[in-house]
Amino acid sequence: MGRFEKILVNENGIDKRDSGYYSTPSFVSEFISNQLLDLNPNGRKVLDPAVGDEELLKTFFIHGKEIDSFDVIEHGNIQYSNFRKQDFIEFYKEQKEALFFSNSIDLEYDYYIANPPYNCHELDYIKDNKTELKKLFGKVGVHNMYSMFLSAIVDCAKDGSLIGVIVSDSFLTATMHSGLRQQIIDSCAIHQLILCPNDLFWSQKADVRTCILVLQKGKQYQDKVQISNRPNNTRDLKEILENRRFNEVDIDDIVLSKKKTANQFIVDVDKDVLSLFHNPRIGEIYNCITGISTGNDKKYLSKEKKDGFEIPFYKNPGSRKFKTTEDSYLINHFMEESLVVKDFMVRNKQFVFKEGITCSSMGLPFSACYLPENSTFGVNPNIFTPKQDLYWMLAYLNSHLVTYLVRGVLIRSNMVTSGYISQLPIIPFTEEEKKKLTIISKEVLEGKLKFEEAIIKINSIVYENLKFDMAVIQNIDDFALNLSKRV
Ligand SMILES: C[S@@+](CC[C@H](N)C(=O)[O-])C[C@H]1O[C@@H](n2cnc3c(N)ncnc32)[C@H](O)[C@@H]1O
Repeated sequence: MGRFEKILVNENGIDKRDSGYYSTPSFVSEFISNQLLDLNPNGRKVLDPAVGDEELLKTFFIHGKEIDSFDVIEHGNIQYSNFRKQDFIEFYKEQKEALFFSNSIDLEYDYYIANPPYNCHELDYIKDNKTELKKLFGKVGVHNMYSMFLSAIVDCAKDGSLIGVIVSDSFLTATMHSGLRQQIIDSCAIHQLILCPNDLFWSQKADVRTCILVLQKGKQYQDKVQISNRPNNTRDLKEILENRRFNEVDIDDIVLSKKKTANQFIVDVDKDVLSLFHNPRIGEIYNCITGISTGNDKKYLSKEKKDGFEIPFYKNPGSRKFKTTEDSYLINHFMEESLVVKDFMVRNKQFVFKEGITCSSMGLPFSACYLPENSTFGVNPNIFTPKQDLYWMLAYLNSHLVTYLVRGVLIRSNMVTSGYISQLPIIPFTEEEKKKLTIISKEVLEGKLKFEEAIIKINSIVYENLKFDMAVIQNIDDFALNLSKRV
C-alpha cells in the first residue's frame, strides 16, 4: 500500500477520498470555534452536519456545549457529539417539507460549524437527484455539494445563530453561485472572510482553494467585516489567525455590486481599484462574445489543416500573449452542419471571420491575443472592436491591472467566460496613450518587441494614467506575477 492510501484509508477501513473527506487542520478548527464562541459565549447547542472524525468539535466540547452531528458515513471515533448517520441534504429537505405556516426552519442550534464535502460522488448525487434538488434549492442552484450545504445551513439557522465554515472559495466570484451570495447578503451578517492558502490541504493530496467564513443569521448583526487576503502558505495563515492580522472593512467593501448579476465577494481590493468599476465596461462598449461549440471536437476539428478542415479555429490562447496560433482547423461546411446538428452551435454568427481579440478561458493566467480575419473562435471570450481600438485594447488586456481585475476581482475560479470579461472596466486613456499602446501591440505582433518588455511598458502607461499609490501598484504586480499563490 502506498503512502497516499495509508493517509486516506482510516482505521475503520473507510476510504476518505470517496466521501470528499479532507480533515480540517486543528489550528483552523480551533480558530473558527473560538470566533463563534467569542461572538456568543452563551449559546447552548451546536450542529456539525458533516462531522467526519469530529475535527471541528473539540473546543465546543471543552466549553461544555451540547453538540449534535451528522454524516452519511460513520467514520468512528465519535466522542464529543450526539452522532446520527444522516444525509444533511435529506434532513434539510424533510425540514422544508414539514413547514406549514412559517417560512423559516429556525432550528434550535446556536452554532453551526462545518467543513462541507467538496467533490466526492457529488456529481452522481446531483445527477441522480437533480429534479428534487432543484426544487429544494431554487435560485441558489445545485452546482455542487458544498454550496448546497452552505445554503441549507443558512436556511436552517434561527435569528442570531452563528455559522462558521471552511469551504471551497469558488462561490465568492463564480456567476453560477450568485444566488448563494445573494442568500448570504440578504439574510446574514458577515463577520469574517479569510482566504486560506492553496497548500492548506496539500498534505492530504487535495488541491482545493478554500476560505473561512463566519456568518450570523440576521442582517442586523452586521458590524465591520474582518477580512484577510490569501497568504502564501499555511505558516503565514497560522500567523495571521494567531495575531489576528485582519483588515476591518464595511460590508459594502466586500461586495462588488448590489446587482445580483455582479454581486461577487471581493477581499482586500483597494478602493481606487474598485472605483474603476464605475467606468464603462468592455461589454457596454464593444462586443464581448463567445463562439462555436461543435459538440464533437473529434469529428469536427483537426489538428492539421487538411482537405475539408481548412478553417482556422482559435479556442484558448492560454498563457500566450498578443500572438497565438490556431488551436485546430474546423470543417469547411460548419455553418451548414450547425443547421442540421443540434449540438453544433455557432453563436454570434455575425462576428465569424472578423478580425478581433481572442482571450484565454482555462488556466490561471489571463491573456489576450490578436484574432486574424477569416478565422473562427470557440467558447472562450472574444472581443470585437472598431479597427482603431483593436491594438490599444489588446495591449490593455495584457496589462497586470487586467490580470488582477480578472483573476483577483471578477473570477477567482478557473473558467473565464465572456460574461466576466464583459464586466471589465475600461480606463479612459488619452489619445496619446492609446497611440503608444497601439504601437506596443503592433511591435510585439511584428516580432520587434518581446512581450515581457511590452507588458512593462504597458503597465507604466496604465499606472501613469491612474495615478495609483505605489503600494496598490506593488500589490497588483505581485498578484499578476504570483498567480498560483495569490489567486
Ligand atoms: C470535508 S469532510 C469534513 C470532515 C470534518 N468535519 C473536518 O472538518 O475535518 C466532509 C464530510 O462530509 C460527509 N458527507 C458527505 N456527504 C454528506 C451528506 N450528504 N450529509 C452529511 N455528511 C456528508 C463526508 O462523509 C465527510 O465526513
